[in-house]
Amino acid sequence: MVAASVQFGQHAPARRTILHLSDTHLLADNAPLVGTYDTAANLDATLRRVERLGTQPDALVFTGDLTDLGEPEAYRALRDAVEPVAEALDAPIIWVAGNHDERGPMRKHLLDREPTEEPVVSVHDIGGLRIVALDSSVPGWHHGELDAAQLAWLAEVLAEPAPLGTLLAMHHPPLPCHLPVFDILELRDQPALGEVIADTDVRGILAGHLHYSTSGTFAGVPVSVAAATCYTMDISRPAVEVNGMDAGQSFHLTHVYADTITHSVVPVVEAPSGDFFSQEWVDHMASLTPEARLEAFSRKR
Ligand SMILES: [Fe+2]
Ligand SMILES: [Fe+2]
Repeated sequence: MVAASVQFGQHAPARRTILHLSDTHLLADNAPLVGTYDTAANLDATLRRVERLGTQPDALVFTGDLTDLGEPEAYRALRDAVEPVAEALDAPIIWVAGNHDERGPMRKHLLDREPTEEPVVSVHDIGGLRIVALDSSVPGWHHGELDAAQLAWLAEVLAEPAPLGTLLAMHHPPLPCHLPVFDILELRDQPALGEVIADTDVRGILAGHLHYSTSGTFAGVPVSVAAATCYTMDISRPAVEVNGMDAGQSFHLTHVYADTITHSVVPVVEAPSGDFFSQEWVDHMASLTPEARLEAFSRKR
């Protein structure tokens, strides 16, 4: 495992590294999603990319639509695929419920909990970074909502700040969307969430649902939406014509620094890349004085 980060510049290495993945949409017997997409193969390709990162993430966060129909077998297939990867990385998995999930089967077959219909929420201490998984799903519907009880629970959790601050992980992003389809399926009553997180230690919101990578701010808090592992929305078309495509899958590397958080898109593609940089090159740079390093790598020749 290569050292996750070295410091040649002014920023100290990230305090925590999170892998943010979304929308796996697995189906029982690996039935093709909408008759087209091989969701298991696409998840497998994503996980192989995760393994090749060569970094040691502190957690893997999956922001919902874990299965397409909430089938028990699909949840079991998901954990069979992801758990060995997470175990090898020694990183916990944080599962978030989406509108395509079903709370009962998700609890029973993914989380080994009682199969109740309560919102699937959880709080994780990732070495001082708090990650709160919210459940914006509404049983029987595809739009999103956080009811008064869940918001009251969140307010209680946030009453005490965490040493490295808090990330919220939820399926429906509290952001506008330029696509009509997601306007209908948006998170409702977003101001209510804004009131709860105002003046708290929430430093970021991780979300999914849109099947393309995007970002914005909500109530002053950065929101990062990861694309899907199953298929993505081809947004290089007029908004009313946007449809899915079996390309452009990606996930995010989220680096939590002392004073900022970055979200970097990792494309899931097979393509040749150069071989100029290596551990040996980094070791060589590290052996130089700052002035010699600048001379060796920054000066135009
Ligand atoms: Fe989805
Ligand atoms: Fe969704």
